[in-house]
Amino acid sequence: MAKRHALTRRRLLAATGMATLLPPAALAQSEIRTVVVAGATGRTGKRIVETLNAQGYRVRGLTRDAARAENQHGNIAEWMSCDVRNPNAVATAIAGMDAVICAIGYTQFAGPNGGQFVDYLGVRHLVDQAIAHKVKHMALISSGSAGPARVQTRNPLFGYVGYWKTKAENRLKTSGLSFTIVGPAGLLDNPGGAHSIRAIKRPEYIKLPMAKRVVDIGDVATVVVASLTNPVLTGKSFALLNEDGPPAYDWRQDVKSLPPEQS
Ligand SMILES: NC(=O)c1ccc[n+]([C@@H]2O[C@H](COP(=O)([O-])OP(=O)(O)OC[C@H]3O[C@@H](n4cnc5c(N)ncnc54)[C@H](OP(=O)(O)O)[C@@H]3O)[C@@H](O)[C@H]2O)c1
Repeated sequence: MAKRHALTRRRLLAATGMATLLPPAALAQSEIRTVVVAGATGRTGKRIVETLNAQGYRVRGLTRDAARAENQHGNIAEWMSCDVRNPNAVATAIAGMDAVICAIGYTQFAGPNGGQFVDYLGVRHLVDQAIAHKVKHMALISSGSAGPARVQTRNPLFGYVGYWKTKAENRLKTSGLSFTIVGPAGLLDNPGGAHSIRAIKRPEYIKLPMAKRVVDIGDVATVVVASLTNPVLTGKSFALLNEDGPPAYDWRQDVKSLPPEQS
């Protein structure tokens, strides 16, 4: 369905001559058909895959064990074994794909499966190969508490993962790629669509009481997948959370008001 939608949009742009008015990032993103999702077996990654499928994208799902992924999740994606710590495996995984979405996360606080090697080095490999393969857009799931929110060297939580995620974000921000960085609040494994979504600057986010810092994973998937086609999300990083009560607000207004990253 989304393929049809994208085609129509492209034809419409061509017919109206609007293609010449759009910024380069928007033009590149309008051509995205194939998406590789790193961390596709995870709670967030799986919902991202489902959202991409519903919109007609071709999806390659990365995992450390493709057979296990196929057994657990069926054929929702073209599964490929790829440990993001291995740059050669990442190169193979990204080759020929239009866009990258990264939803990986450490499985241990320290050691080879900790933040340094998964959330930082793994993302660095994805960014490097996205550049090498001329990927049109990369979206990164980071954390509401990472980034410029605080002095990360004084944030030892979960093996200083905020520090490593911030380094990964900076690599993407300075890569020259079209990018979006989403810093979710505490993840709730719900389909989304039940509450207003808010996108705010992370220094504001960390001042909120902990009870307010939650977001439904389905809403994270909605925003991340929208970054493939909506240029308002390009070059932005922000915290994402839900407000209490039913949906009453368009989160795109928040994103529009956020300035693009300078670093
Ligand atoms: N939990 C929260 O409340 C919260 C809040 C804010 C941000 N976040 C961040 O949001 C992101 C998604 O979280 P989540 O809870 O959805 O993740 P999750 O369910 O823990 O899934 C982690 C994913 O990372 C993959 N992975 C781990 N090490 C890997 C490696 N070396 N190579 C390739 N893939 C690897 C796993 O794949 P395989 O096991 O199949 O290999 C899995 O798909 C993470 O970055 C997390 O830090 C979480």
